[in-house]
Parts: sequence; structure tokens; C-alpha cells
Amino acid sequence: MSGARSIDLTCTVNGETVSETIDARTSVADFLRDRLGLSGTRTGCEHGVCGTCTVRVDGQIVRGCLMLAVQCEGGTIETIEGVSDTGEIADLQENFRNRNALQCGFCTPGMLLTAQELLAKGGVPSRDDIREHLSGNYCRCTGYHAIVDAVEATAQARATKR
Ligand code: FES
Ligand code: FES
Repeated sequence: MSGARSIDLTCTVNGETVSETIDARTSVADFLRDRLGLSGTRTGCEHGVCGTCTVRVDGQIVRGCLMLAVQCEGGTIETIEGVSDTGEIADLQENFRNRNALQCGFCTPGMLLTAQELLAKGGVPSRDDIREHLSGNYCRCTGYHAIVDAVEATAQARATKR
């Protein structure tokens, strides 16, 4: 016997109610990927360092590898799939494409959700502020410059629409 304890979990994921029986030790990231097939949430370090597992829980971004899925009981999880489907970050995604802000794409879901957290505050953050905000999300490919460009361009475009 492994000693694993099963527990019932009901929460909302990307707008749909989900009820599953899971191992109590299952992380949010593993729950999303392995149980629900939402593979846009990536797992890299699984130690809270790289940010690639970033999702929103009750409107706040969290590291899905550090949070237990059972902590989401009765709550709301949003993944890159759901946030993309709503169109909330369509402009940011387009700027990532236009500015070549992704190469392998492994970091991109977490990067987008983290950037959107900053952009949702409104205004046009400085490049230093963008870098600081994204500093917990690692990218091995781009050198970050293009990512900052894409976030800045999105902030500027949103500011002119307001
Ligand atoms: Fe969660 Fe790296 S996989 S922070
Ligand atoms: Fe490859 Fe960021 S695009 S890790």
C-alpha cells in the first residue's frame, strides 16, 4: 500500500464544473494535465522556480506545481486554454507572434498569464516593470527582449483604446 488518500474535488475549470476523485497529494498542474488533459499548463522544474505551470485560481495567478488541487475545492481555475478561448489575451498573443516572442513555446502559456496580470492593472508599465513582473518566468530561448517588446506593445495599444 502506498498510503495515498483519495479525496473528492469539485471546482470550476475554464467555466465548467468538474468533479473528480484524486490523490490528495495531486498538484494543480498534474490535475489539469493528467486528469483533465489540459496540457497547455506545462511542468518544468516542479519546484516553484520556472513559472511555466502558471494558472489562475480564483482570479490570482499561482504556480500550479506548488498548489494542491484539493485547495481549489469550490474554487475557479483558469488555464491558458480557457483564457485563450475567451479572447481576453488575443491581442497579447498576436503581439507575441508578431514580435517573435516565442520559439519552442514551452514557457509561453505561463508567460502570457503572468503578463496579463500586469496588463490588467492598466496603464503602460515601463520596460523595467515588465521585466520585474516576468522575472519569475524563465525562458531558455528568446533572451526576453522580444517578450518585453510584445507586452509593451500590448500595453500601449490597450492604453490608446481606453
Ligand atoms: Fe512550477 Fe516550474 S513547474 S514553477
Ligand atoms: Fe522556449 Fe521560452 S520560447 S522556453
